[in-house]
Amino acid sequence: MIPVNKPFLPPKEYFVSQLDDIWERTWLTNNGPNVRLLEEKLQNYLNLSNKVVLVNNGTIALQIAIKALDLKGQIITTPFSYVATASSIVWESCEPVFADIDKDTFNIDVKSIESLISYNTVGIIGTHVFGNPCDIKAINQLAHANDLKVIYDAAHAFSVKYEEQSIFNYGDISTASLHATKLYHCIEGGFVATSDMSFVRKCELMRNFGHDGPYQYSELGINGKNSEFHAAMGLVNLEFIDRVIAKRKSLVNVYESLLSELPITFQRWELGATRNYAYMPILFESEKQLIKTTAFLEANEINTRRYFYPTLDQLPYLSTSDRIPVAREVARRIICLPLYYDLSVSKVEMICELIKSSMKHN
Ligand SMILES: Cc1ncc(COP(=O)(O)O)c(C=O)c1O
Repeated sequence: MIPVNKPFLPPKEYFVSQLDDIWERTWLTNNGPNVRLLEEKLQNYLNLSNKVVLVNNGTIALQIAIKALDLKGQIITTPFSYVATASSIVWESCEPVFADIDKDTFNIDVKSIESLISYNTVGIIGTHVFGNPCDIKAINQLAHANDLKVIYDAAHAFSVKYEEQSIFNYGDISTASLHATKLYHCIEGGFVATSDMSFVRKCELMRNFGHDGPYQYSELGINGKNSEFHAAMGLVNLEFIDRVIAKRKSLVNVYESLLSELPITFQRWELGATRNYAYMPILFESEKQLIKTTAFLEANEINTRRYFYPTLDQLPYLSTSDRIPVAREVARRIICLPLYYDLSVSKVEMICELIKSSMKHN
């Protein structure tokens, strides 16, 4: 079976050599040297002016971001994202209000955001879907004009640059997921990035129960700490990330050239942004076509993923929205194809052949 995703693992000895230091120090968690070194290395690698605060996953990063910005009320967000984008809002006792998305970029639509701003709106959370930057300039203008905070869920966007700057330099806060399935990972992990040093301090306190000294608590906090073992994986994987991206790029190029003649659509990438080749989404002309092709691939031992499906307004604890026709339509017709470091060009060629033959017999 060809999976849709397979986590990258470095040569085992690289990770094992990190373990000796951990054993030597016997410092396993609680803001240890590996965590601090990884924060510094991420900042350098991403060429970030914003400061990175490492946490234990991308969901906690979103929750801490919402809490640090003190958002209380309605947050306009995208229904075409992973569940964590919306569930974090609900978890923080705010109300997600779903804007529609752009049919070509799959990102939150700025006109739709504008139409939903009300007296109760306190912020906007946009996801850079599949790593493709949102319309950052327009969102920032809108937020500025309406005094709204902006959080970018950049879980998919590691290493992407927008207008020559790291994607994590945008918004009041940007968040990352460093989960095992992500382009770059530390098994479980995430971070928040922000330029405002008062938010940095807040996030640092919040990830550590609000501890401000052994007996003092200056914020409401949570356990958002990451361990030395996770950070060690992050340190090692950072040495391989350029190789990982280059390999994925070569696979995406093969997919895009072999599938280009078919009646499917690729995601339109935002102008002025670099790509990170984290996902290989394709949009079919109909859901029927999607079901037929994915069943055929499955029968040939190839996994695909309906990502994201269904739209987040369908969550049982939220009410459905009739204002998101584009998101509904995209969610019905999109899949992600297998893409990971260990995948070979010949396997990608075979997957493309199978897709072609399934679609020919329509
Ligand atoms: C868009 C998006 N946001 C948030 C998350 C949550 O990240 P994590 O799994 O690290 O909690 C994910 C991860 O799957 C994601 O894809």
